[in-house]
Amino acid sequence: MTTPSSPGQHSALDHATQQEAAKRNLWMHFTRMGSYADSDVPVIVRGEGQYVYDQHGKRYLDGLAGLFVSQIGHGRKDVAEAAARQASEIAYFPLWSYANPRAIELAQRLADLAPGDLNRVFFTTSGSEAVESAWKLAKQYFKAVGQPGRYKVLSRYIAYHGTSMGALAITGLPAIKEPFEPLPPGGVRVPNTNFYRAPAFVAGDLTAFGVWAADEIERAILREGPESVAAVFLEPVQNSGGCFPPPPGYFQRVREICDRYGVLLVSDEVICAFGRLGYYFGSERYGYQPDVITFAKGVTSGYSPLGGMLASDRLMEPFAEGAATFLHGITFAGHPVSCAVALANLDVFEKEDLLGNVRANEAGFRATLEKLLDLPIVGDVRGDGYFYGIELVKDKATRETFDDDESERLLRGFLSHALFDAGLICRADDRGDPVIQLSPPLTCTQEHFDEMEQILRSVLSQAWSRL
Ligand SMILES: Cc1ncc(COP(=O)(O)O)c(C=O)c1O
Repeated sequence: MTTPSSPGQHSALDHATQQEAAKRNLWMHFTRMGSYADSDVPVIVRGEGQYVYDQHGKRYLDGLAGLFVSQIGHGRKDVAEAAARQASEIAYFPLWSYANPRAIELAQRLADLAPGDLNRVFFTTSGSEAVESAWKLAKQYFKAVGQPGRYKVLSRYIAYHGTSMGALAITGLPAIKEPFEPLPPGGVRVPNTNFYRAPAFVAGDLTAFGVWAADEIERAILREGPESVAAVFLEPVQNSGGCFPPPPGYFQRVREICDRYGVLLVSDEVICAFGRLGYYFGSERYGYQPDVITFAKGVTSGYSPLGGMLASDRLMEPFAEGAATFLHGITFAGHPVSCAVALANLDVFEKEDLLGNVRANEAGFRATLEKLLDLPIVGDVRGDGYFYGIELVKDKATRETFDDDESERLLRGFLSHALFDAGLICRADDRGDPVIQLSPPLTCTQEHFDEMEQILRSVLSQAWSRL
């Protein structure tokens, strides 16, 4: 039980009481709660543009857009007002048997923006649910069209596709799967496109590497038996592991392979859609046509939760007539407030030409981050658009990485805290090799890139001197 609090905006509790309640009552996600035994839980109370502020009023540059979410930046009154207007008109009604005007308008707008024949929007509340929904659609679709043996899903090593049981079976990170095994059967791993760590026989030749990585998908389909494979789940740029862009021609080859074996290509764009790569959809940037796109995060810039999948007319066809039904639904999916927010968010994209801003400034972002390559600890800078990973190494010449113990001391023991203390929110991650990830609001310009570079330079130099 907690003591009752007044409904204040951000500090109904004094600092000590708030900290006590945070430590005693709040269960933070993917967080070692024990790590706050002797220190404060960071509390973010407000945001404005590219910056957020903690409970002491200290300012941070939001180099991660929250969690790859806040495309338009923080504190936008116009989007908040759209939510309030919708909540007072009709806050909630389910998509089960009823439509609501904002969900209809948003579905139409997304269908207009999406590539090719992706005309049907199935809303969810999150990215994991979007991924689950795509797998469920693939399974029920194949049963409906007389190919009931197809249930397996291919995805790439260390790729993150969500945490619910189905999505976790697609996720390729052994450490976060192991406590929950056995998971639903059917998840099969294929290589990712980490060119920095390419196998020796294709190292140094990006095109050959891409051909090999795509052909590994074909080999996996043949090994598993094409009649058992339903879908391949791929991000346009793989997040986990530190931003692996696709080699040239990779997705075109994957598309051909999927067509050859009748396998669906699901583009998991939970991070890469809505401007992260300078386009509404990442598949547009790399010129491939998915059968399904999954999205979440940036569709509302986080002003309210929403996710979904965009499916082709072909996949909808078995459910379009008679008693046929896609047997799947979520209470809060297509929530009217979230849909109103998404529409207002897309209005900001248009009015402020955010895609144009990313395209105009991404070369500057890359060049600024690449300055860090003069540091001995920085092995690789990779990514596209406003989405970058910086790989940290022990030895630049040999590309030797840190062992688990060093990684633990470096990332958790020093870098995460030091970057935060220096006023930069980004992500120090060692789910693959140790990387720092940046994915700032799409409103950022050169001054923000310079601020990121200066903070990273100082903190990474300190990290190196401590090794
Ligand atoms: C590519 C991808 N798919 C799925 C998810 C899961 O989304 P959520 O956390 O909204 O469930 C994420 C989350 O980061 C993601 O990056």
